Amino acid sequence: MKIEHTSVMLDRCIALLAPAIESAKSPVVVDATLGWGGHSLALLEKFPNLKVVGLDRDKSAIAKASSRLAEYSDRITIVHAVYDEMPEVLNSLGLKNVDGILFDLGVSSMQLDQSERGFSYSQDAQLDMRMDQSKGITAKEILDGYSRSDLIRIIRDFGEERFASRIVDNIIAQRQKGGISSTSELAQIVKESIPAPARRVGGNPAKRTFQALRIEVNQELEILQRAIPRALERLEIGGRMVVMSFQSLEDKIVKQFFTAATESKTPVGLPVEIAELAAKFKLVFRGSEKASEPEITENSRAQSVRLRAIERVAF
Ligand SMILES: C[S@@+](CC[C@H](N)C(=O)[O-])C[C@H]1O[C@@H](n2cnc3c(N)ncnc32)[C@H](O)[C@@H]1O
Repeated sequence: MKIEHTSVMLDRCIALLAPAIESAKSPVVVDATLGWGGHSLALLEKFPNLKVVGLDRDKSAIAKASSRLAEYSDRITIVHAVYDEMPEVLNSLGLKNVDGILFDLGVSSMQLDQSERGFSYSQDAQLDMRMDQSKGITAKEILDGYSRSDLIRIIRDFGEERFASRIVDNIIAQRQKGGISSTSELAQIVKESIPAPARRVGGNPAKRTFQALRIEVNQELEILQRAIPRALERLEIGGRMVVMSFQSLEDKIVKQFFTAATESKTPVGLPVEIAELAAKFKLVFRGSEKASEPEITENSRAQSVRLRAIERVAF
């Protein structure tokens, strides 16, 4: 299997956004997670009248996407922003509602490949893990400074790690010896904390702890919780939002908001639907979709994707 900078479920995302784009006179799509711009590029190529607003909190992604999408600079506006700031960004561009919104959550393979960023347990680097390196605390600061109970909570809840307390005890023991300063040291501590039989299943044992730290460093779940409802508010009627999650906690948040948005608020038992209380959104399909087996073989990042889509039907 190879890891490439290929965009996950690219054709499916385009097909899902197409009806909303094609039915609008001057369509606008927000790519909330621009990354290397793969989804945006495909959308701009396919729809000649489409305008895209691309957001990313990572300045290096912004620079790379800007140069990759340079020939479309008249139709794409690229903004360094966190995606829960989408309403403010749209306001600043004089845009009200939009026809499509795409979230391709998590880290990019480009970020994983930049070993010095500290996202990858398989490459030795400083423990940074910030998507926006201009602000916020690093993974090392968390490992050095958080209390035992907070570290356990993070690694257990965000990493879904059964052996969180053993890992944290070893992290704390290491503090007395000067702390953990590199990704390899952390990966080794995690490995040694996990009983041998458990180490033999479920891939690299460091994966879950690294995921947990990355989520905490970047406040990923809190931001997603704020971002989804704020983004839904800015969808035009007929507008669609597509979200791709790569771990169950993200997908749970998306599912909860989509379920609430597509439920009628008319009290159960009333014989008629009250128009103002009717659902303002509908699911484009029930549940979530996965990537195809051939795509997973080509691009291992597609393995864990869960894609959900929603459409606005009323204001
Ligand atoms: C998986 S990549 C996107 C790849 C892109 N769709 C492509 O095809 O090239 C996710 C991107 O979202 C960015 N990102 C993650 N969380 C973010 C947030 N809260 N606000 C803005 N950007 C975010 C990351 O920096 C990363 O560049």
